Amino acid sequence: MSDLYRSILRPVLFSGVKADPEFLHSQVMRSLSWLNSPQQTWLRSQLNRLYRYESPQLSQTLWGLNFPNPIGLAAGFDKDGVATNVLPSFGFGHIEVGTVTFYAQSGNPQPRLFRLVEDLAVLNRMGFNNQGAEALQARLQNRMTGIPIGINLGKSKITPLESAAEDYLGSFRLLKSLGDYFVVNVSSPNTPGLRSLQATDQLEPILSALQTENQSEKPLLIKIAPDLEAEDISAIVKLAQQYRLDGIIATNTTIRRDGLKTQMIRGKSIQEEAGGISGAPVKARSTEVIRLIWQQTQGSLPIIGVGGVFSAEDAWEKITAGASLIQIYTGWIYEGPTMVKRILQGLEEKLQRSGFDDLTSAIGSAHPVTR
Ligand SMILES: Cc1cc2nc3c(=O)[nH]c(=O)nc-3n(C[C@H](O)[C@H](O)[C@H](O)COP(=O)(O)O)c2cc1C
Repeated sequence: MSDLYRSILRPVLFSGVKADPEFLHSQVMRSLSWLNSPQQTWLRSQLNRLYRYESPQLSQTLWGLNFPNPIGLAAGFDKDGVATNVLPSFGFGHIEVGTVTFYAQSGNPQPRLFRLVEDLAVLNRMGFNNQGAEALQARLQNRMTGIPIGINLGKSKITPLESAAEDYLGSFRLLKSLGDYFVVNVSSPNTPGLRSLQATDQLEPILSALQTENQSEKPLLIKIAPDLEAEDISAIVKLAQQYRLDGIIATNTTIRRDGLKTQMIRGKSIQEEAGGISGAPVKARSTEVIRLIWQQTQGSLPIIGVGGVFSAEDAWEKITAGASLIQIYTGWIYEGPTMVKRILQGLEEKLQRSGFDDLTSAIGSAHPVTR
């Protein structure tokens, strides 16, 4: 089945007139939102049979939530929460919707999404196109899924950076009762100035406002960029501990362009194309960031590892570096719908071969034991 996707369907989807990646994504979202409706339970059960894989060894309880497996869908795929009932049928153990902003916004002008096939990568500068927090609130009222749903919050483009805290807070208030965990996204390269909010003096008012509203009711995480220096990561980790955040998501897309095979997009140098790169080129750095966070916290702050995961081996590297959960976006586009099941089966084998009883024991196990 996976070979069918890679050998036949993917080449058809990736080529030809209708191959514009954003057009394709919107068609996929239309199909998924149709499959999402309450009437489609039978079709969803067929997808479950094909793609879900139950593995008690890989389940874990984190923040009081039951994650049936560690592989989740990363933010940006289902920005408006139109497919939260059907996406679990593709095997995911959690789904992160968003990024959602307080105000609806259309994002950057098209084209804004490009495949770098030779690099197993994607370049995007979508710019948080989404229908806004109120629309997501209405949609999530009809949520039918049992797996954890995270909500990723971003700053609206029209809100000035100095009012960022109120903007995040506005969305959080609307959505608080509907998400299982929340993410402060300050790491997208596609909203002007957003990443400057990773500086601790700009981050503090946002975390303070959200935690005051939160009163420890919902797990709150921060998602960071792979392009931060080690000392900036360290400062964010300290702030996360100070504000009792529940975890860190590492990482978002990179603005670096080195080491790419793709040099031109539509006749223009890749160096000149704005946006963030995801997929294979970000894999090693995101694992490095996971490692740094784990070392600093000695595993006391849960990490969601994301960036360039295509296989069980990739996921295992991040788990043993310190990630409790993994997320995928680009890999799913390249590998197709059987990917999650394949990774889960591979992770079970890894556990067995390494002599671990369960996934939890493997988290951070690549670090030398310090006593
Ligand atoms: C087209 C596209 C849109 C994305 N949109 C968002 C977003 O809205 N919010 C966010 O936090 N991350 C977004 N991301 C980043 C992913 O969630 C993830 O952090 C990154 O792509 C690295 O993982 P990957 O290599 O598995 O894709 C987006 C990624 C892609 C490819």
